[in-house]
This record gives sequence, structure tokens and C-alpha cells, in this order.
Amino acid sequence: EKAGYEHFMIKEINEQPKALADTLFPRIHDGKIDLTDAGFSDDMIEGIRKIYIVACGTASYAAQVGKYVIERLARVSVEVDAGSEFRYRNPVLEPDMLVIVISQSGETADTIAALREAKKRGLKVIAITNVVGSTLSREADAVFYTRAGMEIAVASTKAYITQLLALYMIAMEVGRIKGKLADEEYARLLKELERVPELSKEPMEKKKDLQKLASQRYMDQHAFYIGRGLDYAVAMEGTMKIKEVSYIHAEAFSAGELKHGTIALIEKNTLVVALATQADLLEKMMSNIKEVKARGGYVFAIVQERDAATVADQVDQVFTIPNVEDLFAPMLSVIPLQMLGYYAAVSKGCDVDKPRNLAKSVTVE
Ligand code: M6R
Repeated sequence: EKAGYEHFMIKEINEQPKALADTLFPRIHDGKIDLTDAGFSDDMIEGIRKIYIVACGTASYAAQVGKYVIERLARVSVEVDAGSEFRYRNPVLEPDMLVIVISQSGETADTIAALREAKKRGLKVIAITNVVGSTLSREADAVFYTRAGMEIAVASTKAYITQLLALYMIAMEVGRIKGKLADEEYARLLKELERVPELSKEPMEKKKDLQKLASQRYMDQHAFYIGRGLDYAVAMEGTMKIKEVSYIHAEAFSAGELKHGTIALIEKNTLVVALATQADLLEKMMSNIKEVKARGGYVFAIVQERDAATVADQVDQVFTIPNVEDLFAPMLSVIPLQMLGYYAAVSKGCDVDKPRNLAKSVTVE
């Protein structure tokens, strides 16, 4: 039941701190992440040369964050594909590749088809899923269960955030076992990661800012979500959230790509949601934001608290997430984007939990 919330979507957004804690803490033993139940042994990790992640929709956007983080922490190259593409394009698969499929429901037809294809070609497949006993969980070689609890709203929120967490945990373990992540750095990251469930409560406390934006006229037309690196990956998920529940057209762009054509669409008051949570990319992001402002765009920026003052006078509205290790910012920055989608849908009077044309799981190819 909705436990006093108006919709399942907002209830599930609010359940994210618990979903993160339930997925993380039971898997930490003696200062290490323990993924043996998910099929990761030291031997198995040492043998991985490349990772292929296959998923659909929101789960595929989680995979985009995963690619970035695994490549960064474990120096293993990662390819991401949509389930519906993987199967029909005869992907180049090699025996020392690990395939990871991600699916909240574990019942998405395109993802199941991809798993079967990978297995047919002799590869080991690990499933990240939220549903015990689902088709994916039964057919995969091993399963990393996210512990988000049942997700009812069509728009995935708490499942996505736990998928991110699962990928961070995998990245850290692969990095550690492969010797790419020094013990000290691993310990520091783990300590930071353990703070994330608690920190993830904060964005929910600032819902007024998002409600305000969601009811403004900037939301009438279409919107662009921009970011670089990890922020770009999160932008993709942010646009999905607003599109599917509020029917506002939104596109995610890597901030540097905007000027290669799409900037032609920015005019007075076009909403641009700019994610700028990464210290090493902040300066570059600020110059992209200037390009947008120069054309009259309305910039809603999401930054870490530490950067609020630097950014404030160059944008129209700032939303801050608590300071956190940059790598982990996606688990915080996605929350205001989910809320923005939600409040936009509410202010437009949309059927939030059951958007038009969509079902909770897509069991046809
Ligand atoms: O159950 P799955 O994670 O396999 O579902 C995949 C997509 O259909 C799903 O994420 C869809 O994109 C959601 N409606 C997004 O909120």
C-alpha cells in the first residue's frame, strides 16, 4: 500500500535510502564487499578481460554509469548494449568476457533473449535483478539481487538506484582483485559508499524547489539535460523519468556535444537541466552553461554543496546535493531528477503510476 503517499512513485523515491542500505550493508564483511553470493570469486574476477552489460530502458542507463565506474576503478573495458540490439547484431563475444544483464523485473523479453544468446555462445552471465525467482534469476549463472523491495510504479526509481549501487560494488571488487585499486583507496571509497544511504535522504527534504520548477512555464515545451562523464549518464535517466510520467519531451546530451548542432534548439526560456557534480569537469561545464545562457535558456543546475556559491550567479536556479566522493554523486543527483519528473506529472494531472502506453514489465520483444 501507499503508506500515506499520494502515489507509489513518490513512495518509492522516498524508500531509496532504505533500498540502498539493504543492498549494501549485508554484503560488507570485515571491511570488504563480499560478492560471493553473486558469483564473483577471486579466480573468476582475475579471468575477466572485458565486460558486456545488456539491459533495457532505465536499467540500460544504470549500465551507462556502470561502464564509466568499472572502467575507471577496474580498468576493464565495458560495452553497453540494449537487449533488443545485442541479440540481432552478432556482437563480438570472446570467452574471457563476462556478461552482466540488468533488469528490475527479471522478465523483460529483450533482456532474457540477450541472456540466452550469451549463454548459447558459451559465456558466463550474471544477472542483477530485484525479483527473486524471476526468469533471469533462474537462467543466469549467478544473481546479484538488489534489495529494493517490490517496485510498483511503472517509472523505476528505487530499483535503478540499487542497480547503480550493485555496479559500484562490482567495480570496486573487480578493481581490488585485479590490483587496480590500492587497499587505501578501496578503504576510503568503501567508507564513502557507506555514507550514501544516509546522504540520499537529503534531496527529498528539498522538494519545494522541485515542485516550484515543475509548475513553472519552463516545463511546457521541451527540455535538455546536460552533463559530462557520469553526469551525462545520469542525465539520460533523468530525461527518461520526465518523459515517461509527464510526457514532457526531454533529451540528454553530453554537454560538450550540444554545440555541435542541438544548441540551435535553445531559445528564450528553454529549460536546461545542467548536472555539474564532478570537480574535474566543473570548469568545462560552466562554459557549456554560459553557451546556453547566452541563448536565453533557463538553467537549473545540480551541483554538490561545495560548488553552490561558485555556480549560483551564473544559472537561474541551483539545487544542491550533499558533498560526496564525486564517483558516487549519481546516487544522489538522480533523486532530484526523479522528483522533477514526478512533480511535473502531478502538476500536469498525469496518471503518475500508470503512464499511458506503458506497462511495468515489457514481456514482448
Ligand atoms: O524490469 P526491467 O528493469 O528489465 O525493465 C526495463 C525497462 O522496461 C524499464 O526500466 C523502463 O524503462 C521503466 N519504465 C523506466 O522507468
